[in-house]
Amino acid sequence: MKATVSRKAHFNAAHRLYRKDWSDAKNLEVFGKCSNPNFHGHNYELIVSVTGKIDAETGYVIDIKILKEIIKAEVEDTFDHKNLNVEVQEFADLNPTTENIAVVIYNKIRPSLASHLDIEVTLFETPRNFVTYSGK
Ligand code: NI
Repeated sequence: MKATVSRKAHFNAAHRLYRKDWSDAKNLEVFGKCSNPNFHGHNYELIVSVTGKIDAETGYVIDIKILKEIIKAEVEDTFDHKNLNVEVQEFADLNPTTENIAVVIYNKIRPSLASHLDIEVTLFETPRNFVTYSGK
């Protein structure tokens, strides 16, 4: 029997979508107001889903307290109230789109979880816009 266990989390962060190797005009053309040189913020909502076998002894796929602590240590403590471009090393040369943030989050939490578990990261940049990444 397999089941999926999910934990929601939240962080506020600022970012700017742009490429250093493009002109301001080209960045504005591609990224619109998201390329504002003075940055802008989002209230990100995160869902991390863990799929695996239900352990016969504990009845758990994963102890959700452990998942909560991993998300806090790897995501909330690193991203919350930060300027992603300036303060988070992973985005020094990586455009902090919702897609890339979801991939970075996946790569940060994956090593802390047993390899037999399947992980899916869903990141909402706005209540209507979200991205899912599961390591493929
Ligand atoms: Ni934005």
